[in-house]
Amino acid sequence: MTSSLTQPPISDRPVRVALIGAGNIARQHLTALHCVPELEAVGLCSRTRARAEALAAEFGVPLVADSVAELVERARPEALMVLVSPQAMVPVALSCLDFGLPLFLEKPVGLSVAQAEEVAQAASNAMGGKGVPNMVGYNRRHYSIFQKGLGKVLERGRLLAVHVEGNERMPAVRATGRFSDEVLRAWVFANATHTIDLLRHFGGEPEEICAFASSLHEPLGDQFAAALRFPGGALGSYTGNWHSPGGWAVVLKGEGVTVEFRPLETCRVTYADGSVEALEPDADDAAAKPGFSGQLRALAGLARTGLLAPPSQDLSGALLTMRLAERLSAPVRPLP
Ligand SMILES: NC(=O)c1ccc[n+]([C@@H]2O[C@H](COP(=O)([O-])OP(=O)(O)OC[C@H]3O[C@@H](n4cnc5c(N)ncnc54)[C@H](OP(=O)(O)O)[C@@H]3O)[C@@H](O)[C@H]2O)c1
Repeated sequence: MTSSLTQPPISDRPVRVALIGAGNIARQHLTALHCVPELEAVGLCSRTRARAEALAAEFGVPLVADSVAELVERARPEALMVLVSPQAMVPVALSCLDFGLPLFLEKPVGLSVAQAEEVAQAASNAMGGKGVPNMVGYNRRHYSIFQKGLGKVLERGRLLAVHVEGNERMPAVRATGRFSDEVLRAWVFANATHTIDLLRHFGGEPEEICAFASSLHEPLGDQFAAALRFPGGALGSYTGNWHSPGGWAVVLKGEGVTVEFRPLETCRVTYADGSVEALEPDADDAAAKPGFSGQLRALAGLARTGLLAPPSQDLSGALLTMRLAERLSAPVRPLP
């Protein structure tokens, strides 16, 4: 085994990363790692060793550990990825801070604003106040097609409006039986933050918000309508109707151009003369779950430099998204 003294500098070789959690999303990250030579998976652990072993064997990860402490000691990672179930994210994330390694945390980091605040605070206080570099997996920010579509707006002038449709498929989600009651109850934080985060991604931090929410079945709301004003004057809207057919969409309005991501992984640009253009994502976004390669490259950059490049979000950015979710969903009125 090469000693750290004889290793080339971290900028000249793949960053050693270890994964915690061996579920669906760990598999997606391991697939995306094939597109990202800047990172190398060196170890894996999960709650159930057999699942960790099966996933490690499938992807050629050389080491399986029984605990995070053993993983860090034996695999000698330079970054950790926490890919556990939503209800386990906070305790596992907090337990990882003492290692001082750059952390990638899947969303959501907590099922409430209070939990997200606790983790963000703990990360900045960790290592005797030096803090632990971190990022949160809002992968939609890294869609190559978003960059291209926004570019079509900005090359013609100002971004005038950002409209986001965050229709969750709640009956289907409940029917899977995969999620605990506490995760389903907090779905606006657990999953709807993906689309709520896109308001901030495209528009910046909203300066004014007028929001309404009501509840057909979900206690924290399942019907949402909001109007927003962003820095620079762009206007925005957010709607979500979780018990009606429909999916996620974003529409950007520019000067003589409308860009529509519907579904989010596609892009249709309509120009003032009526012509229409379809944009295609980069090859990496077709080869793996969209946005995953981009955020893994950002993790490599974070491990190498200590700096997180946009459009990634760290815990403090993710906290702003959680607060926005709270703002869009409160107060909730029951539907008669
Ligand atoms: N960015 C996205 O688009 C996206 C999409 C889906 C999910 N996610 C997020 O990714 C995370 C994982 O979701 P998933 O779909 O992969 O769920 P999953 O298939 O249920 O897998 C979760 C994994 O976490 C492990 N785990 C649970 N508690 C643990 C603990 N205390 N310590 C160690 N391992 C633990 C489970 O253990 P065992 O199975 O080994 O017992 C399982 O392997 C969630 O936070 C979810 O919100 C993100």
